Amino acid sequence: MAKVEKRPAGKPAAQDVAAQLELKPGQSIELLKALHILTRDGKLNQDSRRKLKQVYHLYQFIAPILQELSEGGHAVTLADHGAGKSYLGFILYDLFFKDLGRGRIYGIETRAPLVESSQQLAAGLGFDRMEFLNMSVAESARADFMPAQFDVVTALHACDTATDDAIAFGLEKKAKAMVLVPCCQAEVAACLRQTKALSLSRTPLAELWRHPIHTREMGSQITNVLRCLYLEACGYQVTVTELVGWEHSMKNELIVARYTGHRKRSAAERLRQLLAEFGIESLQASRFAMLPAEAAKT
Ligand SMILES: C[S@@+](CC[C@H](N)C(=O)[O-])C[C@H]1O[C@@H](n2cnc3c(N)ncnc32)[C@H](O)[C@@H]1O
Repeated sequence: MAKVEKRPAGKPAAQDVAAQLELKPGQSIELLKALHILTRDGKLNQDSRRKLKQVYHLYQFIAPILQELSEGGHAVTLADHGAGKSYLGFILYDLFFKDLGRGRIYGIETRAPLVESSQQLAAGLGFDRMEFLNMSVAESARADFMPAQFDVVTALHACDTATDDAIAFGLEKKAKAMVLVPCCQAEVAACLRQTKALSLSRTPLAELWRHPIHTREMGSQITNVLRCLYLEACGYQVTVTELVGWEHSMKNELIVARYTGHRKRSAAERLRQLLAEFGIESLQASRFAMLPAEAAKT
């Protein structure tokens, strides 16, 4: 009969925890405890584990970009907008920036206590190329102490229009890549409610946003479509996919934009047409300010 190894009750085997966490070589256990992914006695916290799964998944998309941009000794700058507890920033630093010895991460967050606790955690772990700024995304784009150029912009579930502000920041800072997982979005739904999508209101398409829950979902859907067109019109190649299985998060759309410099005129045109069809042209000045000018009609 196989001999069963005895462990003190409640103490998980270190290798079991490591396997469940898919720990990478050199990864900081102290960090995972501080982020409450591991409890003090080394057990897994199931709620935080879900967050870790999302962040790991996102890391798989971001790591090759960081690798490529770091070539030739370049010190990559990354801005993480709506950082919250900075799970993403810390995991990126731990898995990539720490051993590389160069590059810097800026976490932007409006909630002061979260910024303070991230600052303390980074200091405690010696993650000295991480900065946490207590300000809004829009303010960070205007702050004169911020670098004029950023390589990568991330925004994981940054609330409502904070994703739009992150895109504006990326365009302003000539980001080479933007990795966005939008959160709920209310602005377009509010416009739809107000204007009833003007020209479409008498068509069967109006059924798509007649019920409030559909208005909200349609608003989010239209918003993300407009964001992708905007990025394409501004010189980015865009891929849209899902981050993790829907059972892990309802806000699961992952937009990865890489700068190519090729400004797609058809995307700009489509964006303008959609704004007009839905009667939300008022958003052009506030949300799509850097849209290339319309080509003169001959
Ligand atoms: C849903 S949480 C996501 C946090 C983190 N990115 C994550 O995925 O764990 C969104 C965070 O964005 C912050 N936030 C919302 N609007 C913001 C803005 N305009 N500028 C900066 N932070 C913002 C909120 O305070 C909140 O902590």
